[in-house]
Amino acid sequence: MIPESFISEVLSRTDIVEVIGRYVKLQRKGVNYMACCPFHKEKTPSFAVNQSRQFFKCFGCGESGSAIAFLMKYKGLSFPDAIKELADALGMEVPEDKETKRRAAEARSLTDFMAQAAQFYQSTLFHNREAIEYLKGRGITQATAEKFQLGLSPDGWQGLQTVFGDQYPTESKLEECGLVIVKDDRRYDRFRSRIMYPIRNPRGQVIGFGARTMVPGEEPKYLNSPETPIYHKSQELYGLFEGREAIRKKGRAIVCEGYMDVIQMSQAGFEETVAALGTSITGEHVKKLFQLSDHVYFSFDGDSAGFKAARRAMESTLSVITDTQTAHFVILPQGEDPDSLIKAQGPEAFEAQIKGSYPLSKFFVMDIIREVTQGSPLKTAEERAKAVAIAKPLLLRMTAQALRQLLVQELATSIRMEPAELATLCGVALVKETPKAEKYQRDYGRDAQQSARYKRPTRPVTTGPIYSNIKRRLLQCFLMNPQWFVDYSDQIEYEMLDTVDEWESLIVQLWRLVLDQVQLLGDGVTSGLSTGYLLSFMQNDPAYSTLSQLVSQEEVLQTPNEVAEFEIKCSFLKLEKANVDASITELLAMEERGENVDGDYLERLFKRRQLIQQSLMQQSAQAVDMVLTTRLGG
Ligand code: CTP
Ligand code: MN
Repeated sequence: MIPESFISEVLSRTDIVEVIGRYVKLQRKGVNYMACCPFHKEKTPSFAVNQSRQFFKCFGCGESGSAIAFLMKYKGLSFPDAIKELADALGMEVPEDKETKRRAAEARSLTDFMAQAAQFYQSTLFHNREAIEYLKGRGITQATAEKFQLGLSPDGWQGLQTVFGDQYPTESKLEECGLVIVKDDRRYDRFRSRIMYPIRNPRGQVIGFGARTMVPGEEPKYLNSPETPIYHKSQELYGLFEGREAIRKKGRAIVCEGYMDVIQMSQAGFEETVAALGTSITGEHVKKLFQLSDHVYFSFDGDSAGFKAARRAMESTLSVITDTQTAHFVILPQGEDPDSLIKAQGPEAFEAQIKGSYPLSKFFVMDIIREVTQGSPLKTAEERAKAVAIAKPLLLRMTAQALRQLLVQELATSIRMEPAELATLCGVALVKETPKAEKYQRDYGRDAQQSARYKRPTRPVTTGPIYSNIKRRLLQCFLMNPQWFVDYSDQIEYEMLDTVDEWESLIVQLWRLVLDQVQLLGDGVTSGLSTGYLLSFMQNDPAYSTLSQLVSQEEVLQTPNEVAEFEIKCSFLKLEKANVDASITELLAMEERGENVDGDYLERLFKRRQLIQQSLMQQSAQAVDMVLTTRLGG
């Protein structure tokens, strides 16, 4: 077995033109390199090599594939032998036999080390009375501990030696992923004798740990993984992996301050809870949540640290929120956190806090006045000027026009000023609302999708032949430029993760492959993720012939990139529309049967449906324009 990371490296450095050029005389003609086909007899060249896609196709006999496929066919090589030949040409040595195991282990990505550590910590907890008692004492059930994969780091300097054996003293990746600390030639575990909270990314991979002491009063209470290539605190949320489905289903996300809050909340039925990881809430955090639901609730302790954190969360929210989304702020009584509140008064107490929370516009005004006068009404001109000065940068960072208008009005009323005057002072125009369709059109892509997260109908609807064709074409477009798998991650996650047919599962399979490659090779190679590169990895997969057929067809169609991207957008819109339609039908049927139906939700679905419709029409008009200009103009 050649390690996958080695194959990735070879393929990312291989150029198909150079490889085929060793055996066939190629001549550049437009975007392709042409030759007489080596696989059948011909006089005029119909064998084309596409450099940007790293793919060849013969228009005469139909042979096609990647550099690997070429070598396998042309020289009759096996897959490993083809890799060897490519590696040789690059002056790279294939890791062999006895070496293979060691290097393969070495090449394992950082997430593998983290996964092993997490499992080890989990089993250590299982055998330790004191830690089990500690968690029991905090009211954590075994099911919850398992859901969050809680663990215990052993009480010793080199506890992880048990897991990593010979690698422990030498493997630099253990240090790189933050599990081991190296100091004065000494190597030891970062986490010792602490309750371990694994932090997982949305794909479920462990990327970091939070570690709490069990000794009352010991400092620091929490030790956290450092920033590493796989762990970026400004982007990751604790509990997002465990809670994303609940966030989607319930249509809301709750953000708390601590690990234990998330766990306790989840156990109490608030599975839609997450927390930032010992940092303040960033715009990226809020964006992630708004991608899953339109309503975010922040919960903060009612002390000065809590208010400071709430201000930061508000700032981050203002930059990313759109007019169809809401944010609320729960300010808990002094000295309480969600964990303690639920333990003392039950889940209803927290639901009551949510009901009584401040909407963004109210919190905005309250927080400003709190800063100016600690909460009492503003009296002097100086106080009002100070309020304006605080409000100005906050308003300026917003893109949601209607919401901004509302904030201006609320603040103006509260500090007794004309809204128009306040707007002028803050440098924001009081504008008429942008027509929605236009806005949607402008924002289409990640942002507009954010406001479009609705519950899926209970039964899959995009399974018939029409949708099968749409998805087949979608896959074909993705194959043209694998970078799109990365760009349209959100849409793939939303539309395809509960794969309903073979096309969806193929798209998801390739999407995962691309994400793995990006992680393995680093962000730098995404531009080098060519079609041929991707196909090489599928060489031994049953789906290979389907995939290479799709790509091969595209070599004939030659769809311009811009048009293909429009097609991708439209396909996702069509799939979403089918789901929205089905949800509407479902709800109307319920209504007819006299069952309880959320009228607001139904109304949102109708609006959403209309937006998709408009957007589809505009997209297709633009696509036609594009085809005409690319075909005629150039
Ligand atoms: N935190 C941290 N490092 C510390 C203290 C706190 O990273 N030394 C972060 C943790 O993410 C923690 C959050 O801040 O969960 C809130 O801290 P705190 O309220 O002190 O802890 P709790 O989450 O309430 O933890 P517990 O209930 O276990 O005491
Ligand atoms: Mn706590």
